[in-house]
Amino acid sequence: MKTLRIIFSFLLISAPAFAQEATTESGFMRDPFADPLFPLYLVIGFVFVTAVLVVLVALYMLKVLNIFIRKAAEERAEKSGIVYTPEPGYFSKFWVWINGFRSKEEEKDIMMEHSYDGIRELDNHMPPWWKWLFYATIIWGVGYLVVYHVTSSMPLMEDEYLAEVEKAAEQKAKLLAANPPAVIDENALVYEHNEEILKKGRTIYVTNCASCHMADGQGSIGPNLTDDYWLHGGSIKDIYLIVKNGVVEKGMIPWAPVLSPEQMRDVSFYIKSLKGTNPPNPKAPQGELYVEEEAAPAADTVKIAGL
Ligand code: HEC
Repeated sequence: MKTLRIIFSFLLISAPAFAQEATTESGFMRDPFADPLFPLYLVIGFVFVTAVLVVLVALYMLKVLNIFIRKAAEERAEKSGIVYTPEPGYFSKFWVWINGFRSKEEEKDIMMEHSYDGIRELDNHMPPWWKWLFYATIIWGVGYLVVYHVTSSMPLMEDEYLAEVEKAAEQKAKLLAANPPAVIDENALVYEHNEEILKKGRTIYVTNCASCHMADGQGSIGPNLTDDYWLHGGSIKDIYLIVKNGVVEKGMIPWAPVLSPEQMRDVSFYIKSLKGTNPPNPKAPQGELYVEEEAAPAADTVKIAGL
């Protein structure tokens, strides 16, 4: 009864909200928490609650009905002078049936011959639910064999995988055709202060390079990338080639197998942009002083400082 009362009060709370939805639709829609589908959810919730309520009421009625039936049976038994034994419920009947339980009286029929120190054994069979499951797996197995190996009407796991790989390759080709990757000509690289490229380069740098060159390029295992001194040259082409090919014997990894040419370009541009940033704990200069080859236009001093 308590559950029913709870559900009733819940319905009473949700009913005004439902009514409001119908009358002041625009105002309701302007509600900051309202999803466009909120009315739909509300209706579904309403229907669900109603359905639960109906089922609960039906169960309750069934219970009441059972009590009456039992009372009547008890009275009848009393009248005819027999002891009333209640019928087992549907569930317990089902339980006995699905497990194949035997009653005490039946035990003598399934008692086995042998006896060890007085201990006897009952010839109990597997429970029916287990046997059905077992038969079902046999039928499933036959079906599986026929479908996958005899008629081959469904693809095997390996074929499925290959089909997916092929599909992915197709998609990749389509995507590549739609926006072809920038062709990087390492001999004609020209550094430009392009915020978009530098942003991408920074992400690549932070994930791949900061462990050796430190987050702000001050250098640690690898050299300082912010000063004017370079071991392998400071032109954008030099930097790109070092990133690409590495200096394996000195501990600088070749990045060509890991990064795409575009990514290597982006990170090289980023390194170039670090020049003159003066990080707090710079590693001592290594290599030779590099002076930018092209003479920058005298007027554009700010840009030179930024480079
Ligand atoms: C495992 C450590 C390590 C990682 C990771 C690493 N480097 Fe290096 N890097 C070095 C070392 C060591 C050197 C110096 C090589 C030498 O002495 O010739 C170096 C040198 C360089 C140079 C040349 C510097 C100069 O003075 O000429 C550049 C440019 C460079 N690294 C860029 C990168 C970039 C970009 C990444 C990330 C994609 C990266 N490094 C990741 C260790 C590393």
